[in-house]
Amino acid sequence: MDFTNVVRTRRSIRSYSREEVPDNLLQKILDAARVAPSANNRQPWRYIVVRETKTIYKIAQLAANQIFIAEAPIVVVLCGRKYVNQYSWFGECMYLLEAAISMDHLVLAARNEGLGTCWVGAFDKWGIEELLDIPPDFPPVMLTPLGYPKDKIAFSEVIDRKPINEICYSEKFGNRS
Ligand SMILES: Cc1cc2nc3c(=O)[nH]c(=O)nc-3n(C[C@H](O)[C@H](O)[C@H](O)COP(=O)(O)O)c2cc1C
Repeated sequence: MDFTNVVRTRRSIRSYSREEVPDNLLQKILDAARVAPSANNRQPWRYIVVRETKTIYKIAQLAANQIFIAEAPIVVVLCGRKYVNQYSWFGECMYLLEAAISMDHLVLAARNEGLGTCWVGAFDKWGIEELLDIPPDFPPVMLTPLGYPKDKIAFSEVIDRKPINEICYSEKFGNRS
């Protein structure tokens, strides 16, 4: 797909078909996440691919009962490796940013293959850690269902965004000339 089309039609998909995700596509999507940039190329991300139906259902419950998650054949859980970045004021939070960049690669690559995702940040961290045996130094950062949307028109073009002149300034903050 054309890149502009990918980014303009990536939407949060909240209804999934049970159709299996071909393994070659899953690998392609994970590879897009793998090649993401990070400070000092530290790559502080790990992905857990969950296919077990019962586990997926428990994840949906732990994600504020967002049951649509359990419709998908796969849930991908992103974990971030904690570290302190001494060069940035982000310090101990930098890994979260880096993990999110990698996740965005994954989400856009999925859209490129006609697969739906939905960033899910509302979840019980401790419950997910226990369920998936996640060690304390790799906290879960985000998760997403992954699968074909039940309805193909779900990939509708994004329209509900602020206009460019509201989010971009010229030369100095606040300057709109
Ligand atoms: C960091 C983050 C966390 C989010 N958490 C949730 C969530 O827990 N549940 C959900 O349904 N959507 C969640 N979303 C999706 C947003 O609601 C959605 O991206 C936004 O409304 C724009 O819609 P769109 O993705 O269809 O363009 C999250 C998105 C981001 C980026």
